[in-house]
Amino acid sequence: MKYGHFDDRNREYIIETPHTPLPWINYLGVNDFHSLISNTLGGYSFFKDAKLRRITRYRYNNVPRDISGRFFYIKDGETIFNIGYLPCKTPLDYYVCRHGLSYSIFQAKKNDLDVTLTAFVPLKDSCEINKIEIVNNSKEEKDISLYGVVEFCLYNAVDDANNYQRNLNIAEVEIDDTTIYHKTEYRERRNHYAFYHVSRKHDGFDTDRNTFLGLENGFDSPEAIQKGTSYNSVVSDCYPIASHQLNLHLKPGEKQTLVFMLGFIENKQEEKFVSKGIINKKKAQELIAKYDDVCNVDKALAELKEYWDNLLAHFQVSTGDEKFNRMANIWNQYQCMVTYMMSRSASYFETGTGRGMGFRDSCQDLLGFVHMIPEKARERIIDIASIQFEDGSTYHQYQPLTKRGNADIGSGFNDDPLWLVGAVCAYIKETGDYSILEEMVPFDNKVGSEKTLYDHLLISLNYTIHNLGPHGLPLIGRADWNDCLNLNCFSLTDGESFQTVENNDTHTAESIFIAGMFVKYGKEFVQLAQHLDKQTDSNYILEYTKVIEENTVKYGFDYEGGYFIRAYDAYSKEIGSSRCPEGKIFIEPQGFCTLARIGQEQGLGKKAVQNSLKYLLNDYGCEILYPPYSQYYPEYGEISSYPEGTKENGSVFNHNNPWLTLALCEENMAEEAFDLYKRNAPAYIEDISDIHQTEPYVYSQMIAGRASKQYGRAKNSWLTGSASWSFVALSEGILGVIPDYDGLRIRPCLPKEMKEVTIDRLYRKKKFHISVHHTGAPYKMKLNGKEVEGNLLRAEQCLDDNIVEIDM
Ligand code: GLC
Ligand code: GLC
Repeated sequence: MKYGHFDDRNREYIIETPHTPLPWINYLGVNDFHSLISNTLGGYSFFKDAKLRRITRYRYNNVPRDISGRFFYIKDGETIFNIGYLPCKTPLDYYVCRHGLSYSIFQAKKNDLDVTLTAFVPLKDSCEINKIEIVNNSKEEKDISLYGVVEFCLYNAVDDANNYQRNLNIAEVEIDDTTIYHKTEYRERRNHYAFYHVSRKHDGFDTDRNTFLGLENGFDSPEAIQKGTSYNSVVSDCYPIASHQLNLHLKPGEKQTLVFMLGFIENKQEEKFVSKGIINKKKAQELIAKYDDVCNVDKALAELKEYWDNLLAHFQVSTGDEKFNRMANIWNQYQCMVTYMMSRSASYFETGTGRGMGFRDSCQDLLGFVHMIPEKARERIIDIASIQFEDGSTYHQYQPLTKRGNADIGSGFNDDPLWLVGAVCAYIKETGDYSILEEMVPFDNKVGSEKTLYDHLLISLNYTIHNLGPHGLPLIGRADWNDCLNLNCFSLTDGESFQTVENNDTHTAESIFIAGMFVKYGKEFVQLAQHLDKQTDSNYILEYTKVIEENTVKYGFDYEGGYFIRAYDAYSKEIGSSRCPEGKIFIEPQGFCTLARIGQEQGLGKKAVQNSLKYLLNDYGCEILYPPYSQYYPEYGEISSYPEGTKENGSVFNHNNPWLTLALCEENMAEEAFDLYKRNAPAYIEDISDIHQTEPYVYSQMIAGRASKQYGRAKNSWLTGSASWSFVALSEGILGVIPDYDGLRIRPCLPKEMKEVTIDRLYRKKKFHISVHHTGAPYKMKLNGKEVEGNLLRAEQCLDDNIVEIDM
């Protein structure tokens, strides 16, 4: 069942009912100010950092669901309704929510009132704009009241939800005819405030939540609105909100336009106040003046659309498959940009208070956005590398506001350093910018500790080399990519964090997945070092890729089962082999070791991918492991804590399906690759939105596996490495457009049904118009009319505009 449909022309998903199985959200804001917005106008806003600069409040786990947001109530006689249906739940005569690229548009009809709300954050300004157009389509004059309401958060979202003894005493606001300023803690150390404004003089306001709602009411029935008044309440201790009441008189056919704005202002220390206790509103008033003019609102929305047009123009395809095009041209790239901005910090599943920016997460996300915003990718790489330690290990996460490593979670995830190598190689292959390697980058952000980024890479690889276990395979540490494979944790104490506790680190547990990573990214580094004429480094790393490859072939492959083993536990016992009673096969090493071409001569990769399909494939892709663990094993950790078929214990983890898709392409298994791709690509499973439940326009982290009672149900949408890796599978695997050190490689692996494919790609500032004529003929490539040997378009042979024709 579907709850809406795609509008590819406008790059929107149109949701036709507020009753989606879960709130279906979108993200507003592409620089510092961000908002989450659901299809019923729920969600919240923050500046740069969802934990430390939370502007509006959101209650996770609340019932009824999703009733914190920016809400607009219209009171027309006895009828009170919301533009986005919630929280009043008054049935609407018409409802539509159009989620577009960084904007959302809502349309509601009730009692012959026709309302359109456009929500977005301008490119350059720190505010969310809600433009409301109301038309009276009845034959009579109407007197209605419109209320706009937000609830403020006291900036630190964790403290806001915990520290009531203080927080219920500190709220402060200032109010004028059109604007409510939220200035809690501004009197002391905060140099920032928020404001909620409306473009016309209000007819009443409230800033005290309890007064506005009334003693026993919720946001579905605020007393002020029910009584048709406002109390002009001035909050001075707890629960600050902002509500503007506007009484509108509309003639038949008349349309009125109002602009609401939620803004955020930072002032210099010496410019905080204009007089004792009175905040400096200069910057706010400038913003207000700008967007009170509706022309500027429309201009800002047009600029935002142009921004996205430009980004997406870097990669546009036409394949004859509408759903594939939709993922490639719009939604997959859009989701990659959102993961760039949010990492794993703020979604409807990630509270924005815990995880900040992940080291490995951001390194992988980069693979999906480096082609669109290479300069930002460069900055991101430097930020990430700056939280590395001198021995090559790294903090696992950092806070976006401070860019400092997060000490709570610490380090010890032994895959982390290698992702940096992968990210930097991908950046250079895309841009050709080797100068990034000479950047001086600190360790743990300590001034004076700087070394070149190139040294950071070498140190990263050395970290694996210096941490090999009994089989000469990489030690796993607290976990590798699979956060839940905690082989040194041995936790028997409830509530203990699986990720940070090591009760029994015997330096024995090894990861074959990390072995695959080391060989893959080690080889990429070797090419890089050769390019820079660093022969000693290149020989040294090459030698170790060989050693680790040999050890993997010897100890990392299950020759009975015909696939790569996952790991050795702290007792040196196999995990993920046919000899294990449960968890006999894991997906991660199959993809990565095949991509690293480990045991290629013996055909290990081919066997591994075939057997992955044999044991792991379900309707929605390949499960992460099979069969799932049916009980808790202290020696395996969190992975066995999940019920069978969920999360790391046997769901389809969308993040590592693309590794297998890529590996299938590597083995020239085009039909299987495309088949796997389609099983969980959102556009292809839109029809089962009732089962899948999460948004049909973006990937979710997981889809419950065969062993789950909720088979097919997805969780953790939006912020997942599935976005970037699926984009790599689509662009580099299936379409085969592969950035390389010396130029663009074109090696499509197309299913039979894709006969004519065109790809427009902007690469190193040059345009490529690639057309592939796919008939099964031997591969032949022409660049600007001349035949080229092999499949590489060497950068120096390319013009500003290139026509590439491929027959295959
Ligand atoms: C989550 C984490 C990611 C991890 C994966 C598997 O998606 O963000 O870092 O690799 O789970 O455990
Ligand atoms: C939990 C989740 C996993 C995630 C990790 C992050 O273990 O299952 O997916 O990566 O938390 O800390």
